[in-house]
Amino acid sequence: MKFYEMTPQRRRSQMEAEGKLSPRDAQLLARSGGLDPAIADGLIENQIGQFALPLGVARGLVVNGESRDVPMVTEESSVVAAASNGARIAALNGGVVAHAPAEHCVRAEVVFANVPDRDAALAVLLSRRRDMFAVARRAKPSIVARGGGLRDVSVEAVCDEFLKITLDVDVQAAMGANIVNTIAEAVATAAGDWIGVRALTAILTNAVCKAQAVTAEIVLDPLTVTCRDVAGEEVAEGIARLSRLAEVDVERAVTHNKGIMNGISAAVLATGNDTRAVEAGAHAFAARTGHYRPLAVWNMKENRLVGRISVPLQVGVVGGATTSLPAAGVAQRIGHYLPDDGSAVSVAVYQETLAALGLVQNLAALRALAGPGIQAGHMALQASNLAIAAGARGAEIAAVAAALQSCSKDLETAKSLLERLRSNL
Ligand code: MEV
Repeated sequence: MKFYEMTPQRRRSQMEAEGKLSPRDAQLLARSGGLDPAIADGLIENQIGQFALPLGVARGLVVNGESRDVPMVTEESSVVAAASNGARIAALNGGVVAHAPAEHCVRAEVVFANVPDRDAALAVLLSRRRDMFAVARRAKPSIVARGGGLRDVSVEAVCDEFLKITLDVDVQAAMGANIVNTIAEAVATAAGDWIGVRALTAILTNAVCKAQAVTAEIVLDPLTVTCRDVAGEEVAEGIARLSRLAEVDVERAVTHNKGIMNGISAAVLATGNDTRAVEAGAHAFAARTGHYRPLAVWNMKENRLVGRISVPLQVGVVGGATTSLPAAGVAQRIGHYLPDDGSAVSVAVYQETLAALGLVQNLAALRALAGPGIQAGHMALQASNLAIAAGARGAEIAAVAAALQSCSKDLETAKSLLERLRSNL
């Protein structure tokens, strides 16, 4: 029997027999996770266990006048805390105003190589644009019935080597990968017949054009970013300066954007969406001018600190793992990403929440950098992690974490605190 045909239990036993999995780890895997075993096995190939991560919630993120709780899945201790902190400051200032594009389009490319007479083929493809719309409708009638479908087609030569058809598809509330790839492959087959060449590829692109980016803005009173030892005006100036640094220093821009994606990726993962698609799109967008730039920028304007983010967000609220993972459904319901008043399902609320989250996540990070530095907060939150790594379990975790607050926060200290705690019992 092939590995992928076995049950997860049998795959673990085989790996144990091969000496690639210890009996203890096999038991850990058998017990881990919260998914129905049949769902877990059905989702991926060669499934042998589940990998659980904490699901947290950043509370009270005010977006377009509505207070939202944002579910987040992450392994990094400080992420939800930072998001909540940013959301708190945003709420003091009336919240974030965010805007998603009216149409949720995903782009695909159908590319031909080795076309004998490229000019003639280009002319044929250009003359067949209307037919491509018909092919797309036949390939995916369900998206047309839902009000979406192919919206735009362009044809161009790329370098001396390729001919490319670009398809922009309105995918409505879905992430759209399956819809777009089905349409792209159907157009590739038809276009291949018209020009007598088999397409090299037909696949969506995770690059998102500017018109499809989601934007969010916040205007802050500097007093609201005051830190314990640093005045609000100084912190606000520091945030604006750090933003300018990210514009001219790529090394800083990458970390600046990583902080933004700390929030966005965690909230994308919580709903079972594709974090890699969102991250690839975001970083490509950051580099779209040929210079890698910050996704969010901060400026002082008339004594106010103004933050703006522009970020592509290839996500959906229907279909795929968003529907099949039960916890993803819970996250959607906590976030109210799907309307509960019977109004049309749209991805806009979710996208606007994600953009707002990225902006306040960035705010929290820059405020810490401009104020007390990042380590104070990080290390305080890291204490539970160290306690767990040292072997603490149950009530010991909180006890060791509390004791760590007043000593050097490293694994050795955590281990000796745990030993002391146990010997005193
Ligand atoms: C840590 O995960 C993220 C930060 O480094 C982001 C930043 O520096 O802006 C704090």
